[in-house]
Amino acid sequence: MPDKSTKQDGASNKLWGGRFAGGPDAIMERINASIGFDKRMAAQDIAGSKAHAAMLAKQAIITAEDSAAIAGGLDAVADEIASGAFRFKTEHEDIHMNVEARLAELIGAPAGRLHTARSRNDQVATDFRLWTRDALDRLDEGLKALQEALIAQAERHADTILPGFTHLQSAQPVTFGHHLMAYVEMIGRDRGRAADGRRRLNESPLGAAALAGTPFPIDRQATAAALGFDRPTANSLDSVSDRDFAIEYLSTVAICAMHLSRLAEEIVIWTCDQFRFVRLSDGFTTGSSIMPQKRNPDAAELARAKTGRIFGHLIGLLTVMKGLSLTYAKDMQEDKEPVFDADDSISLCVAAMTGMIADMSVNKEAMRRAAENGFPTATDLADWLVRVLDLPFRQAHHVTGRIVRLAEEAGVGLADLPLETVRSVEPKITADVFSVLTVEASVASRMSHGGTAPVRVREAIAEARKRYL
Ligand code: ARG
Repeated sequence: MPDKSTKQDGASNKLWGGRFAGGPDAIMERINASIGFDKRMAAQDIAGSKAHAAMLAKQAIITAEDSAAIAGGLDAVADEIASGAFRFKTEHEDIHMNVEARLAELIGAPAGRLHTARSRNDQVATDFRLWTRDALDRLDEGLKALQEALIAQAERHADTILPGFTHLQSAQPVTFGHHLMAYVEMIGRDRGRAADGRRRLNESPLGAAALAGTPFPIDRQATAAALGFDRPTANSLDSVSDRDFAIEYLSTVAICAMHLSRLAEEIVIWTCDQFRFVRLSDGFTTGSSIMPQKRNPDAAELARAKTGRIFGHLIGLLTVMKGLSLTYAKDMQEDKEPVFDADDSISLCVAAMTGMIADMSVNKEAMRRAAENGFPTATDLADWLVRVLDLPFRQAHHVTGRIVRLAEEAGVGLADLPLETVRSVEPKITADVFSVLTVEASVASRMSHGGTAPVRVREAIAEARKRYL
């Protein structure tokens, strides 16, 4: 049972207190309070209040003395919060009122003038935009570090050959550098989405007041500029009721988490005993309490799994916002926890993936051996039949299929078939065909733009360094 409120006696509430004997208002306080989580926006709240107070003084809405007292008091509050001395109180509901209440304790009367020409509705919208902007900047930094780690490994392994898969069946040999650079592209798009969202988010709702604007002669341009926003938002109703920026943040993070989960899954596959393509460092591996031989890729598994809660947060906030009439409704207080948790989760996942990638060692021999399995150069054979014998591709495909079957029956790779056997299928084939049947030749031949040939991979790496790092 929740503790009873000490402040208010439910029984004294004339409307419904008779039956409740004090209990429900403790519940009311609990359901209403957001301080448990929105204290994470303390720095943003104080920055917003300082900008607002300075503007009020400049516009002669409050005196310069009051504004100075407010600014000094807010700095003191910020210090208390930073040092851990600040006592957050549920009875003050949220971060905005906690800061203001403490300001009043510290500086007295001038504190009461801070809330002139604003409302918690534009205040929370401002704080949350500032917080999300910081989160986007942190995300971008983390993703850049991940790209750096991927690019460094890609450079080391521009020539390392492993099987490329479709349907998780060996398809054609590729280079590991090429494979890692695929993730650099994905992360690059994630960073692009973060930048797009940041640009759209970067308008200041401060001054929209409760919903309709304010009769005071405020300067919204000035507070917008002071807080690093590009401009004030255009419509006061939209300003206090829009949470698109948080939803966009969550969708950016969700797509990014989806990418990380694919890389995580590949790490799980690459490190398993049947593959042994990659060995994670001790720092990014866990043991088993019962099986001493185990090296488990727990961090990769958790990065894969945390994607679930991040997707949930996106759907959660979309669902909170759907069908809300204009403007602010308390429903919107439920916007913060999903964003905070998504930020915690993605930050951890990005850092863990960066650590795993930077530290992992690559087993070139195992990759090379696996690349020989499953007739990976069959397409090269078919292409040779087209280029040299001028067979139509469909016919070349058919001829190759028959040769693959013979190799399978003989239990050898395509490159090890005797020429006579190959010729029994298509007599025009010459010994030159063997020049395209090794995995090295296959990889080196894929020189088309964006292809896996080591020279192309090195170019892609140089390009990516310029573009991303
Ligand atoms: N804690 C509230 C929130 O996060 C602040 C805004 C409160 N506004 C109001 N009209 N009750 O949404």
